[in-house]
Amino acid sequence: MRSSILLALALLPAALALPHKEEAKSNGKGKNKDKHHGHFEVQTKPFSNTTLYIPAIAVGENQFAQPECWGIQPNYTVGTDPSLAGTLDVSLGNVSTASYVYFPDDFSAPLHGPGSNQFVIWLTGAATIYFPNATGTIDCVAGTNLAVVDNSTVSTGHYTNWTAGTSVLLVTFNNHVIPPHTVVDRSYC
Ligand SMILES: *[C@@H]1O[C@H](CO)[C@@H](O)[C@H](O)[C@H]1NC(C)=O
Ligand SMILES: *[C@@H]1O[C@H](CO)[C@@H](O)[C@H](O)[C@H]1NC(C)=O
Ligand SMILES: *[C@@H]1O[C@H](CO)[C@@H](O)[C@H](O)[C@H]1NC(C)=O
Ligand SMILES: *[C@@H]1O[C@H](CO)[C@@H](O)[C@H](O)[C@H]1NC(C)=O
Ligand SMILES: *[C@@H]1O[C@H](CO)[C@@H](O)[C@H](O)[C@H]1NC(C)=O
Ligand SMILES: *[C@@H]1O[C@H](CO)[C@@H](O)[C@H](O)[C@H]1NC(C)=O
Repeated sequence: MRSSILLALALLPAALALPHKEEAKSNGKGKNKDKHHGHFEVQTKPFSNTTLYIPAIAVGENQFAQPECWGIQPNYTVGTDPSLAGTLDVSLGNVSTASYVYFPDDFSAPLHGPGSNQFVIWLTGAATIYFPNATGTIDCVAGTNLAVVDNSTVSTGHYTNWTAGTSVLLVTFNNHVIPPHTVVDRSYC
């Protein structure tokens, strides 16, 4: 199963080569900021060579979705395979399906959760995620890997404003099992 995500990542260059609308009509990010919500960037935590930190949408009190910062466990190991020598490697758990999704237009998604617990991996574009009952936003850009587990069984979900030209990989967790992690912060990475 672990090979599934490696396969998904192997498809990445092909996905990047697909034609897509360029940034012409991007990106409302930074404009029209809701005064009551702070502005938070993902991946601002200084790079750690022991632990991979990823932003997540989890579930807090009263089934409300909330942002979290996860430290993936176990910690990095150093690659010994000749093709990965000296790299920092960590398993992202067992995954099942991978799909590619492209947003041709700006799209403000209504309150929703994922159909299945999953990673959402940004290849191009951007999205702003906000919450019915938590302040601040998660701003996702190319390179963001977001864990999303506020599915409809356990939560009312979150809002996502997608920017035209965004493409993502949805990689679902096998049997909905959430990859091992520690919650580093009940807020943003
Ligand atoms: C992590 O960084 C520290 C300080 O730069 C270094 O001593 C250590 O060897 C590094 N560990 C790995 C696994 O690269
Ligand atoms: C992982 O690294 C962190 C430091 O970033 C350390 O506090 C923790 O003990 C490490 N965990 C394991 C299982 O080695
Ligand atoms: C992944 O699946 C293997 C084989 O079923 C199992 O041994 C392992 O514990 C699973 N890993 C995680 C992180 O769930
Ligand atoms: C929703 O999350 C819960 C808790 O992690 C899990 O038990 C359930 O299977 C998940 N449902 C879906 C559809 O992913
Ligand atoms: C979240 O909901 C609770 C009631 O369940 C309310 O008291 C609280 O003010 C809400 N917080 C935010 C940030 O909206
Ligand atoms: C998301 O889009 C909606 C509808 O266009 C807008 O009202 C809202 O302010 C946007 N929120 C954020 C955080 O960008």
